[in-house]
Amino acid sequence: MNFEKLLISTLVVLFSSKTWGSRVLELSDRFLDVRSEGMWYIEFYAPYCGYCKKLEPIWNHVGQSLHNTNIRVGKIDCTRFKSVCHSFKVQGYPTIIFIRGNNEYVFNGERTKDELVHFAMRMSGPPIQQVTRVESFEILKANNPIFFVYVGKQSGSLWDSFYINAEAHQAHGYFYATTEEVAGKHFFIDSSPVILVYKENSHYTFPLSDSFESFELSHLNGTLHNWITCERFPTFPKITRENIYLLRQTKKFLALVVVEENKLNELMTHELEFRDMIERIIRTKRSKYHEFFQFGWTNPELSHSIAMDTLSTPHLLILNSTTNEHHLPEDDPLEMTPEAVEIFLESVLNQSARVYGGDFFTIRMYRAWFELKRLLWDMWRGNPVLTCVIFGLPLGFLSLICYSIFCADIMDADEEEDVHEKKE
Ligand SMILES: *[C@@H]1O[C@H](CO)[C@@H](O)[C@H](O)[C@H]1NC(C)=O
Ligand SMILES: *[C@@H]1O[C@H](CO)[C@@H](O)[C@H](O)[C@H]1NC(C)=O
Ligand SMILES: *[C@@H]1O[C@H](CO)[C@@H](O)[C@H](O)[C@H]1NC(C)=O
Repeated sequence: MNFEKLLISTLVVLFSSKTWGSRVLELSDRFLDVRSEGMWYIEFYAPYCGYCKKLEPIWNHVGQSLHNTNIRVGKIDCTRFKSVCHSFKVQGYPTIIFIRGNNEYVFNGERTKDELVHFAMRMSGPPIQQVTRVESFEILKANNPIFFVYVGKQSGSLWDSFYINAEAHQAHGYFYATTEEVAGKHFFIDSSPVILVYKENSHYTFPLSDSFESFELSHLNGTLHNWITCERFPTFPKITRENIYLLRQTKKFLALVVVEENKLNELMTHELEFRDMIERIIRTKRSKYHEFFQFGWTNPELSHSIAMDTLSTPHLLILNSTTNEHHLPEDDPLEMTPEAVEIFLESVLNQSARVYGGDFFTIRMYRAWFELKRLLWDMWRGNPVLTCVIFGLPLGFLSLICYSIFCADIMDADEEEDVHEKKE
């Protein structure tokens, strides 16, 4: 395998330039000839895109981390090699795709080094990995804060639906299978087969009714699907533009703590205290709130798009993930005690809290406008000259066209009326 990798890498390097000191291959359109050989992890980028520039150092780290694996990390400049990007249906930059044989998996998570490396590691293996040794779980626990484990006989409807779901969720989670004997050393297991999620030093089992053997596979499949969709997130994650759509799939209320980080990703003390206070509520009252709420924290940038308003920080914003409506506490968040926060959560649940936003047409239009402004601003920050050219030139042409149409209109007005009269 390593020899093959070496060979292909050499081939690729022959027709692509490799930046010194970086493990990331700069690929060209010749990539299409070798794409189905082995495993590739490719960033499709454009030199002018601001998000791509931000990703560059992270992507180099990803290249470093995956250097000793069978996965080759590369990048392709879509402004130069349009055909490649076209054949992978790349629509925005940066797009990150893991390619294994003829299968392609688009990365949709948060673009941090850890998330990116985890994604590649997950996609490079089978959907379920067998764990045969007790010690292996120590290593797994040390590497991943969250994973799913199937314990017991590997046949029957529970196993089948675990397999289907592991395949469907491979991009977002690690799935293992083991025996009762091995699992018993790490987890509390009173019967098997059973599915559990290991999360942040605790574990929770998938609730099964006693008669599950008689359930239709599709029913079991569906309930397991929903359970995994909800359990695959940490208790209190950072929520960003990139992962919020995944969190919405929980169909729960998203309780977002809005705090402003400085350039070094640090928080002011009072913001930190507020965030900790909210985090403690979900950690200590999980059984009460986990069913209805997914907690997390975010930056003002995202909360502004949701609330379409500038919120003071720290703040607490609750988003209804099915209707897109949101709720804000009536009191100044900084004055809120844990009890006051809980009363607020209750009022959201019993629908007595005030509702803002939603999915109505006007609000959607306003939101689209808000997003467009943000996009233009990002482009401008990324490359002012190019933004001017992209938007300036067409605008110039457009005004010329408008001008000529307008002038022509006035001049041709009589003629046109004549034509109409003749027709009538
Ligand atoms: C299981 O659930 C997934 C996701 O909901 C669905 O795509 C798949 O078709 C289901 N399979 C069966 C056998 O019901
Ligand atoms: C969202 O709002 C709808 C309509 O008000 C409500 O039925 C639903 O329970 C709310 N909560 C969630 C988590 O979707
Ligand atoms: C909803 O919950 C709030 C907070 O606990 C409570 O004050 C209010 O009376 C409740 N409203 C209804 C209609 O149950």
